[in-house]
Amino acid sequence: MTTFPKDFLWSASTAATQIEGGWNADGKGESIWDTLVHDGTGKIAHGENSDTSIDFYHRWREDVALMKQMGLKAYRFSISWSRVLPEGIGKVNEAGIRFYQDLCDELLKNGIQPLVTLYHWDLPTALYRQGGWKNPASPDWFAEYADVVSRALAGRVRYWLTFNEPQMFCGLGLVAGVHAPFEHNDDVAMMDITKHILLAHGRAVQVLRKNCPGAKVGMAPTGDCCLPKDDSPEEVEKARQKSLSEYPGYIMSNTWWADPVFLGQYPAWAKEKFGDLLYPMTAEEWTLVSQPLDFYAYNCYQGTVDIVPDPSKYDAYAYQGSPQTAAAWNITPKVLYYASKFWFERYHLPILITENGYSGLDCVMLDGKVHDPQRIDFLHRYLREVAHAIADGIPVIGYSVWSLFDNFEWAAGYSCRYGLIYVDYPTQQRIVKDSGWWYRDVIASDGGCL
Ligand code: BGC
Repeated sequence: MTTFPKDFLWSASTAATQIEGGWNADGKGESIWDTLVHDGTGKIAHGENSDTSIDFYHRWREDVALMKQMGLKAYRFSISWSRVLPEGIGKVNEAGIRFYQDLCDELLKNGIQPLVTLYHWDLPTALYRQGGWKNPASPDWFAEYADVVSRALAGRVRYWLTFNEPQMFCGLGLVAGVHAPFEHNDDVAMMDITKHILLAHGRAVQVLRKNCPGAKVGMAPTGDCCLPKDDSPEEVEKARQKSLSEYPGYIMSNTWWADPVFLGQYPAWAKEKFGDLLYPMTAEEWTLVSQPLDFYAYNCYQGTVDIVPDPSKYDAYAYQGSPQTAAAWNITPKVLYYASKFWFERYHLPILITENGYSGLDCVMLDGKVHDPQRIDFLHRYLREVAHAIADGIPVIGYSVWSLFDNFEWAAGYSCRYGLIYVDYPTQQRIVKDSGWWYRDVIASDGGCL
């Protein structure tokens, strides 16, 4: 029998671009995931887009009713910047504001705590055209956006996240060019971009503290957690050091982002690697960037494992035929234990798991249901490792399944499914998968049935 705290945040996550649809409804402006996907560059699998996705923008009331049936204690979603500020700054779209206010009211009415992410990758196109995160004005833009949203949702939202995974929107979108805005920036440009995002985070934290007294504020980074070969202190230390290094490339690493935000300094390896090429910071800027946060949120799917004779090499593919998801991600439940441990021991903040989940090729079966035993097994194993961390004295305060619904999986289009709720895209019919009902029972027993 596993013990989770009574007030544990049992949650499921989504992001605006991935579920809302209504891409130009009621005054919404375009984001880079609209404009740059519409322009026919063919970067998304099967030429798909998120124009309609699962049409949450129009179906949210019924969807909140499903959340209630599943007994969710919290629901993590992101705000579409261009829905509330069509040009990114300036004129506010009142319909967009009302949408999020109504959604929060409905959630609260149903006893579901909203967890709001300000930025889940959908930069307004108008700001992209002015250079996006390269523009030194971008922290001001983000502060203005945070101000509009937090004034509108003050009193409704307690939990806030500034950025979702800077590792990924920078690494995939601004370096590897496989996500919008499909760019390849060099190290010099990435220094400016990093600094602007860090300052934007700091400015947003200030605004949230001012507008929402009592708010719980964090950021939702990701980054590779390397797993020890066994539980011996030497192996654990080796994995920890690797997880805190520049692996698997500085922009995608944990500490490139987390050390500035949580410790107010560059990671030591970055000073060695870049020297004077590092983005310069004044003492005031360090203070701004590293204001106290309330938790360390972490999006976590797979650990990388030490597999080959070369002791410095970690890889995401463990061994021939090793367990993987449909997206070919490693199934390594222990990552939730080790990540919670490593981040808590380094940053000394409660841990909030903001994403964890399984991509499958689910389908409706002859009996009209969606049976997904692999996902249940995946979540079960990973949640046991959360329990393991808690039993070891690591304060994990919540866990959010990615995702509540099947949805638009960025460059992969609709090719794999992460949801606890199946969506038949042509009809928009929702079917709670077996895993969704299983999760309801987990929540109802406070994790006792795990
Ligand atoms: C992102 C989600 C994404 C998920 C699965 C995370 O990196 O935050 O938006 O759908 O991974 O790829």
